[in-house]
Amino acid sequence: MEKPGAGHNRGFLFQFPGKVIFGDGYVNELPAIIREMGSVNPLLLSGKTLSKTPVMERVRAVLDSSGIRHGIFDRVEPEPPVESVAEAARSARENGHDLMIGLGGGSTMDFTKVASVMADGEKDIMELVGRDKIPKKGLPTVMLPTTSGSGSEVSPVAIFTFAEEKVKKGIVSPFLIPDAAIVDPELTWSVPRRVTADTGMDAMIHAVESFLSVNANPLSEILSLESVKNIASFLERAVRDGSDAQARRGMSLGSLLAGMAFAMAGTAAVHALAYPLGGEFHIPHGTANTVMLRHVMEFNMDCCAAKMAHLARAVTGECVADSDLEASGAFIDWMAEIALRIGVVTRLRDLGIPWSAIPGMADAASGETRLLSNNPKPLDRSDIENIYRKAW
Ligand SMILES: [Fe+2]
Repeated sequence: MEKPGAGHNRGFLFQFPGKVIFGDGYVNELPAIIREMGSVNPLLLSGKTLSKTPVMERVRAVLDSSGIRHGIFDRVEPEPPVESVAEAARSARENGHDLMIGLGGGSTMDFTKVASVMADGEKDIMELVGRDKIPKKGLPTVMLPTTSGSGSEVSPVAIFTFAEEKVKKGIVSPFLIPDAAIVDPELTWSVPRRVTADTGMDAMIHAVESFLSVNANPLSEILSLESVKNIASFLERAVRDGSDAQARRGMSLGSLLAGMAFAMAGTAAVHALAYPLGGEFHIPHGTANTVMLRHVMEFNMDCCAAKMAHLARAVTGECVADSDLEASGAFIDWMAEIALRIGVVTRLRDLGIPWSAIPGMADAASGETRLLSNNPKPLDRSDIENIYRKAW
């Protein structure tokens, strides 16, 4: 059985953006960072919806007031078609942009990271899918997350939906780690309730899965624990009142710390089983994870009860049960209750996914070996199918 702190026996590689700035109002540091990086012609990337909001106006005003000429690519879609990444890369090349700024949630940041390595026009996105397929660093990148969830601002991962195959695939490379990240909680204030809830659950699951991962290490465990504590304190408050600055700050910090943790330790079976829900049924990422959460954790429980009990104590601040197994059960209930209270769906059938889709999803999830190999308890295809049945 995995004991808390077992990860303390493991070595680790600490590889992060050269600069991470956290705090209210620090978006104002963007011009200084751009200049420090030697850029004179950055490209600002965002989604269509965000480009019409005060957040975009604010970032542009910060750049304009410092006299930084910049281009705009505002056509990043929530599940961006892979062709549009090549389009953004081409636009950067043709207009001589020397840096990319990713302003948005996980999709926009992932998009920006991959567009930066394709800016030289030498690679097709299909050649980059998988681990360590990117040959060299692309244009420098600066990330400004506008949601508290993905952790993409510090991670070496980008996830894309490949429409033809109806699957989501990961691109993983140290060359995707952004050069700088400005995590300014003020940029998240206007995020709607539903998105706050969905992305907040994703962040919590990053913290939990990275903590339980077989690849957890002394540093990632500290980050995961601190993350889960912040999310436990502030997720419901941020959903209830988006203008609660302290709650938004807590969620931004929780999401950032979880991103740092999973950048090292990875996520695991919850994410692996959630991906087919996104790839085929376009269920938002945080919801897809939440649906799988209870059932994957109940499957894992006997293998990592001591570590789950540690999480339970971290969020309640006390000993919650007589045995580790009991505490693990209480922790799983606690997570499910939060999801319920903030209105995130917890059953497959409530998402309109038919029972008949389960075998196909089990096939797809079985292929997610990058994530499944991090899981504290090994699982085969029939385990996966059983978990989907329970989650239905
Ligand atoms: Fe995630």
